[in-house]
Amino acid sequence: MRGRLLPLALIAGFSTLIAFFLIQGIPGTSTPQALGLGGASGPSKEEIASGKNIIPDLRASPPDSAKLLKPEDLSVPGAHLESPYPEGQTKPPGSEYTRTLVLASTRLENTSWVEEQLADMLAPSGPLSHAIYVVDDKTAPLHPPKNKGHEAMVYLSYIIDSYDELPDVSIFMHAHRYAWHNNELLDTDAVEMVRRLSPERVTRLGYMNLRCHWDPGCPDWLHPGAIEANTAKKEENLIAAAWTQLFPLDPIPTVLAQPCCAQFAVSRERILATPKQRYVYLRDWIQRTELSDYLSGRVFEYIWQFIFSAAPTHCPSMSACYCDGYGVCFGNYDVFNDYFKLRYEMNEFKEELRVWWRKADAIEQLKKYTADGKKLPEDAEVEFPEYGRDVWLERKIAEMNAELKKRTAAAIELGKDPRQRALEAGRPWKEGDGF
Ligand SMILES: *[C@@H]1O[C@H](CO)[C@@H](O)[C@H](O)[C@H]1NC(C)=O
Repeated sequence: MRGRLLPLALIAGFSTLIAFFLIQGIPGTSTPQALGLGGASGPSKEEIASGKNIIPDLRASPPDSAKLLKPEDLSVPGAHLESPYPEGQTKPPGSEYTRTLVLASTRLENTSWVEEQLADMLAPSGPLSHAIYVVDDKTAPLHPPKNKGHEAMVYLSYIIDSYDELPDVSIFMHAHRYAWHNNELLDTDAVEMVRRLSPERVTRLGYMNLRCHWDPGCPDWLHPGAIEANTAKKEENLIAAAWTQLFPLDPIPTVLAQPCCAQFAVSRERILATPKQRYVYLRDWIQRTELSDYLSGRVFEYIWQFIFSAAPTHCPSMSACYCDGYGVCFGNYDVFNDYFKLRYEMNEFKEELRVWWRKADAIEQLKKYTADGKKLPEDAEVEFPEYGRDVWLERKIAEMNAELKKRTAAAIELGKDPRQRALEAGRPWKEGDGF
């Protein structure tokens, strides 16, 4: 019966089935949390049924093995890191690294997760501080001079304000704890990303995009020379013009690429490699440009890597990013790929379940309608979900989720070994070296 559309006029013929739903309610009442459909902040079943929710990993694209990882991505850590800067020097193993979490927030956003979830890491006893800029509140302790350019204005303001007292590592993020563009293997949770981020890797690279996934953004993304306007990338044809104003001495690159969404970490050394006046100049540009709030911020999304690594592209191996960057090590790229294949299959089932719930919800609505004694419109249509399919899907999803959890736990275990991290990042390691 699944997939077949039925005019409601025929509904009387299915009265037994309707009666069944009336008595039983919609079958399948496990909570979304139990199915791994989201953490504490995950969508409710009602939201899922309405289709209004956003399940982060459904929005991530399917793994395209060819694009996902190639052997050279694994063996040559610098394959897609063309920065002319020398590698930064890490401290002796076990040393502490001071860190500041810089958040771009608005008045309406709730950033209490920082104090609540990262309490054990926070100063004075821990290495972490925070700098939460509220863009639309001039009375906030930290706020930028103008509410324009989204996070770009905040990030530059922090650098300008803190230039002479920077921590070892500055972590630049948006204010929300969960976001689809956060790392899937860390439950798209900003807390986990901050907690697990390796300050050693940030120090070595100087600039590290916090997102490991290439899609969207890598291996090539914006082509500033493009003639035709690309509606999906509105900033593309603006970049060339903006570029000559932002970097008058640098030729316009043919391609700009890095993982999306403007969240990254930078070492003190790398921030200081650019004079403070340059950051002031960049921020002035945002304040003065005729581009909108939105577009002036978007322009920066694909030029941060140029500002901090002097290279137009920054697309490190995904597995190296997870392993060396966050201590989630699968051993090799085949295992890493397999994990994502399974995860993608599970997401397809989740999507199917969502559609099932939506259909079931439509029937619930119908019940309410007819219970009021109203007549159904002639042209109304209803689609019955396949009986029992939801239970099968829920079981299947739970099984796959358990398997994925097992594999992630093993990867986190493997990631505790500094030698493994070096191996998967393709860098030399000798006994006694730390992360
Ligand atoms: C902010 O979020 C926390 C959970 O992290 C919650 O306990 C608190 O009530 C929220 N505050 C507001 C004003 O919504």
